[in-house]
Amino acid sequence: MAKASATFTCTACGAAHSRWSGRCDACNAWNTIQEEAPLSSGPRGQSLGAARGAALTITDLSTEEPPPPRTRSGLDELDRVLGGGLVPSSAVLVGGDPGIGKSTLLLQAAARFAGAGLSTLYISGEEANAQVRMRAQRLGLENAPVRLAAATSLRDILTTLDAERPDLVIIDSIQTMWSDSIDSAPGSVSQVRAAAHELTSFAKRRGASVILVGHVTKDGQIAGPRVVEHMVDCVLYFEGERGHQFRILRSVKNRFGPADEIGVFEMTGSGLAEVANPSALFLAGRGAPAPGSVVFAGIEGTRPVLVEVQALVAPTPHAQPRRAVVGWDGARLAMILAVLEARCGIPFAGLDVYLNVAGGLRITEPAADLAVAAALLSAREDAPIPAETVIFGEISLSGALRPVGQTENRLKEAQKLGFTSAIVPSGGKPGGKSGLSLTRMGDLTAFVGEVFGAG
Ligand code: TYD
Ligand code: MG
Repeated sequence: MAKASATFTCTACGAAHSRWSGRCDACNAWNTIQEEAPLSSGPRGQSLGAARGAALTITDLSTEEPPPPRTRSGLDELDRVLGGGLVPSSAVLVGGDPGIGKSTLLLQAAARFAGAGLSTLYISGEEANAQVRMRAQRLGLENAPVRLAAATSLRDILTTLDAERPDLVIIDSIQTMWSDSIDSAPGSVSQVRAAAHELTSFAKRRGASVILVGHVTKDGQIAGPRVVEHMVDCVLYFEGERGHQFRILRSVKNRFGPADEIGVFEMTGSGLAEVANPSALFLAGRGAPAPGSVVFAGIEGTRPVLVEVQALVAPTPHAQPRRAVVGWDGARLAMILAVLEARCGIPFAGLDVYLNVAGGLRITEPAADLAVAAALLSAREDAPIPAETVIFGEISLSGALRPVGQTENRLKEAQKLGFTSAIVPSGGKPGGKSGLSLTRMGDLTAFVGEVFGAG
């Protein structure tokens, strides 16, 4: 009989390794690899095929089943990210840095869902009931029909859930849950996975919804939410800069709705407030047109969002110039710089480049390429982009500008916020109905000539 071999898992990114090493070669984090207890094989180590199991019920793809009934919390920003509300028999993971506001969000959500008729149980493994009550008081939710428990033992929790049969269970946090049938410390990969497995099985078995909170960890001792992403139906990340009051809830996986949808919240003294018009928020505080500042008309999920892209370009005192990016992809920045140099003859060697997406939003769309290039050029030439202009478009390695999706929606949002002109790639849909004056460009060289008057 072959000895069941142990596996090693990175607690930060969830990558599996065949042996231990000091550094994860998938995410380059140090000291995050942990041994996971091997799963026991079948009875007496037999292969599963040797003993006969029950026959499966086989069916076809056509179905009369209605779409899953959804419960809306009434917090539109949350409901949209969930794909239109909470689905029964589902497990949702809400990940985020410690202190970002996960417990606040979920206590507010618990109160709303309880108000919408779901029997709701909030189980905290981190805080005593009194602490959760204090937060509820601060949020003005002390009379909400949410039931509370403080527990960390998975066995006790499952016993309680099977007796109480709540419609919605919130577990804060998955890293504090611990099963006595597993021989490793709370927070380890094995424990966190076992807890997620048991709780999602409960959701499926009883038709309940389970929301799991997961702290994103930098510490190798504690497994992060990445290690359970594959076990749940919906993965949301709650993001934001500590110093900023904006918080963004982003769906990265959703079996019941679109992924990449965002909800925007603002952290206030009395909890999270919904931000119905994020563009206005992200553009607030923008002064007179300044070199290096460009407004990008983007799409987040199903919604257009306008954000300011800021660049700073300065001579470097170092041998190796700095490239620092916040809110965008560093590799994509390197590509844009290379295209500007190779196709337009505009070098950035000897210059430090800083790029920032204002408001703490993280952009992943290639449609931001042209806005980034414009910000870089504007900063380098010390020439502001004309006011009331939005920019979007993808840049290919040849320097050509490629049209992007949802042109119409982007332009409409820009018009709604008082912009009067747009610079967009030629080709694609006309988008003429928006009322903005459009400047269409076929390639980056033409753009440089038109906007900065240099070739
Ligand atoms: P919390 O929800 O405890 O974060 P997490 O569960 O993700 O660790 O929120 C922590 C921060 O939010 C804390 O620094 C205080 C702040 N906060 C407010 O600003 N307003 C509020 O109404 C509440 C409840 C918290
Ligand atoms: Mg918390």
